[in-house]
Amino acid sequence: MAREDSDAIYAYLMAQKPAAVPNVDADVRFPYNFRFAVRFWDMLFLEDGLPDASVGQSADWTRGPYLANALCHCAECHTPRGAFGQLDTSRTQQGEALGRVGAPDITPAALVARGWTAADLQAFLLDGRRAARIGVR
Ligand code: HEC
Repeated sequence: MAREDSDAIYAYLMAQKPAAVPNVDADVRFPYNFRFAVRFWDMLFLEDGLPDASVGQSADWTRGPYLANALCHCAECHTPRGAFGQLDTSRTQQGEALGRVGAPDITPAALVARGWTAADLQAFLLDGRRAARIGVR
């Protein structure tokens, strides 16, 4: 993450009005409540970089993976997981079930196949809503 972005996030957080909310006790289940177990998982599965879901070299394109991977972690929901909860990096952003909902395949080819345009995606990322012409489920 670029220093100016982490500084901007810090400034935003510091500008928020404090709330008097008591801390909630951690309820992470065994074996994840043992830090050393997470360390072991990290050694097996944690990767510094993610494969890109699309290819390109332009300034806009290189900003895309930065936003998706460094700032937003889109892959955490949109990438299928293996038996140990690790991201299946051979299928980056190809969609995953999340309990009652599913995070759809958001690779460029899949979005285009479902009728998305670059303008639709830009509008969706700005306000969280799909363009009306795509329809609402
Ligand atoms: C916390 C989990 C989570 C994260 C993180 C996340 N998404 Fe999603 N995303 C979802 C879910 C769930 C849906 C489906 C929502 C629905 O069906 O109404 C979705 C839907 C979408 C859609 C609509 C696809 C379609 O065809 O309907 C797009 C595009 C999308 N996400 C892009 C992104 C991008 C880009 C990022 C990172 C900036 C991101 N998402 C991060 C869970 C997530």
